[in-house]
Amino acid sequence: MISIRQLVCYGFALLGGVTGSNLEAQTLIPIVTSNNALVLEAGKNNDLSVIYFGKKLANDQEYKFIPSVYNQTSDYSDVLNAAYTASGSRNLVEPAISVVHADGDRSLDLRYVKHEQKQLAENIVLCSITLKDPVYDFQVVLNYKVYPKQDIIEQWAVIKNQEKGNIVLEKFASANLHLKAKGFWLNQYHGDWAKEMQPEESKLTHGIKTLDSKLGTRTNLFQPTVFMVSMNKPATEEEGTVLYGALAYSGNFRTDLELDYQDNLRIISGINNYASGYTLKPGEEFTTPSFIYLLSDKGKGFASRQLHDWARDYRLLDGKGNRLSLLNNWEATYFNFNESKLKELLQDTKKLGVDLFLLDDGWFANKYPRNDDKAGLGDWQENRSKLPNGVASLVREATNNGVKFGIWVEPEMVSPKSELYEKHPDWVVKEPARQEHYFRNQLVLDLSNPKVQDFVFGVVDGLFTRNPGLAYIKWDCNAVIYNAHSAYLGKDQSHFYIEYMRGLYNVLQRLRVKYPVVPMMLCSGGSGRVDYEALKYFTEYWPSDNTDPLERIYIQWEYSYFYPAIASANHVTDWGRQPIKFRTDVAMMGKLGFDIVVSHLSENDLAYCRQVIKEYNAFRHLVYQGDQYRLADPRKEAVASMAFVNKERSEGVIFNYLVNNRYGEGSVYPIQLRGLDPAAMYRLRELSLYPGTKSPIDSGRQYSGEFLMSIGFNPAISTSRTSVVLKVEKVKN
Ligand code: DGJ
Repeated sequence: MISIRQLVCYGFALLGGVTGSNLEAQTLIPIVTSNNALVLEAGKNNDLSVIYFGKKLANDQEYKFIPSVYNQTSDYSDVLNAAYTASGSRNLVEPAISVVHADGDRSLDLRYVKHEQKQLAENIVLCSITLKDPVYDFQVVLNYKVYPKQDIIEQWAVIKNQEKGNIVLEKFASANLHLKAKGFWLNQYHGDWAKEMQPEESKLTHGIKTLDSKLGTRTNLFQPTVFMVSMNKPATEEEGTVLYGALAYSGNFRTDLELDYQDNLRIISGINNYASGYTLKPGEEFTTPSFIYLLSDKGKGFASRQLHDWARDYRLLDGKGNRLSLLNNWEATYFNFNESKLKELLQDTKKLGVDLFLLDDGWFANKYPRNDDKAGLGDWQENRSKLPNGVASLVREATNNGVKFGIWVEPEMVSPKSELYEKHPDWVVKEPARQEHYFRNQLVLDLSNPKVQDFVFGVVDGLFTRNPGLAYIKWDCNAVIYNAHSAYLGKDQSHFYIEYMRGLYNVLQRLRVKYPVVPMMLCSGGSGRVDYEALKYFTEYWPSDNTDPLERIYIQWEYSYFYPAIASANHVTDWGRQPIKFRTDVAMMGKLGFDIVVSHLSENDLAYCRQVIKEYNAFRHLVYQGDQYRLADPRKEAVASMAFVNKERSEGVIFNYLVNNRYGEGSVYPIQLRGLDPAAMYRLRELSLYPGTKSPIDSGRQYSGEFLMSIGFNPAISTSRTSVVLKVEKVKN
């Protein structure tokens, strides 16, 4: 009879701190959410392995039998399914951690010592498992923060040097998963400027597939940190088993997906160890960023709604709050404006009916004025010829117009032509002996240097201090890091990428302590610098500079798997060939903004905008807080359809677009709605009507939820009605 000590790490099953300790034979640690269980086992040598990640069993006593029902080839090392694979001892595959000990030895073996769980809050449980090398004084604590209701697990490691001398961490992943299935399909993303979030799905073959970035700053430019893995068959919106993964880190990242010789999938995700060997002094700890993941056996739609709920409840800054609609001057003026022009735009903001005016790039620098993108970054004083009365007079003017005022900054950056560069060349990231290489004519400031952190904090703090009415910040970040070298770090250059990110988070944390609620957009010249660590500090992100609405349907669609619509800043611009209604309809699937010349709008276009903004204000709570359903996929059908339904299932808004202009294309077939009460009766009503048009949708007709979800609705999309927004409302008894 095997002796088993079992502890269930679950939100409600077990409260308070409980500690298991070294056991005779086998310790099971099921980490349980509402639907799933990740089961770890400390086996005969106290090796900690993953024996199961899948649907939760009713009888948790049965998890221990799981390994016995698989008959795969041998694991010669006994650590192929390690919960955190160490390198240099028995392991033969990709490690999660590798280290050079104080004595130069490179071997590591991590054995289970104990685990404990704490209920941190309702629906938050932390399970911490201590591992130790039996030979070296080297310890790793694996932390699993579990949000049972949303099936989310947030995992990170704390690595501790208890040896007498310095050690060097050569790899230091956040998490190491192990999955069993009859085949795995990876859904990954790639991109470039204006081509963000391009999906690719492929069946994983044996060997290692790596998703990574080495760009230092805007690390999502070519590849974001998020991905999905379907098990047994490619998951669809409604069906199939799928794992979502998202590393919460804005710096260089690396995710290895290794299909091993036993046909199991090992996923190792964390900071990219590229050029980043990290020295830990005796007694020092290294805390990795979190890897956030969830499993769904009900397809991608359920997974994304769980992730959105979690993000709004626990992660995204002000996730349950409101957002400000805005008029941005970037595409209206670029760098070419002055105070009187901006005052006109403030009046346009009021005329349009949005909440805030956002002053973009070009307002600062005097010795090297910011009149194009070649100069001025770093010199954050108002340009005296453009703004002789400073930002303060614009904030005042905005208030007089009954709108709020926001401002653009790019505080991590410096132009080679700037006073900042002249004064502090040692604050700039560059290889002193090499020629400088620029990205958008600019360089990056060395945020590993505390003085630079103070400077960057001061840029934003100064704006707020001088202009207490300032209501919004757009934080841009256009350059990647070339010639990664810090004058501050001296001999510790391999710490640079990590210390840069620590410096950035330190600045953001200081800002949030002082300005906890001011909305800030995380912008990065498009190419969405977005991840769940950054979103602790930002209320929204900029998905792409590509605002052609047709393109945005696809880009926003893919982001919607991972991030809730409330965080997606969508602007109506002059990109693309679609009419203003189409452009606005697409932008309303998130946080609405405009970046147009209001005075160039025709009378009807302006009347349409003013009316639709009022409608948006009345339904935006559904987009921000509702459950999101991707109803018809633009990559598969001629009509794309996306719905947001409130939790009470009493109202929703449905966005529909023609994405294929071939003859006869349109909503030929009905589209099945989701998220309604089958027994309730509903009405459909068209919103966002352009002046002079009539809706063919009969708002008097009543449909059961069952009808709308099994037969469907038809938005009457055609080449003459290319975008249609419908409100679905429960009929009150
Ligand atoms: C890139 C951003 O994505 C744009 O919206 C704009 O703010 C420019 N930078 C300004 O330089």
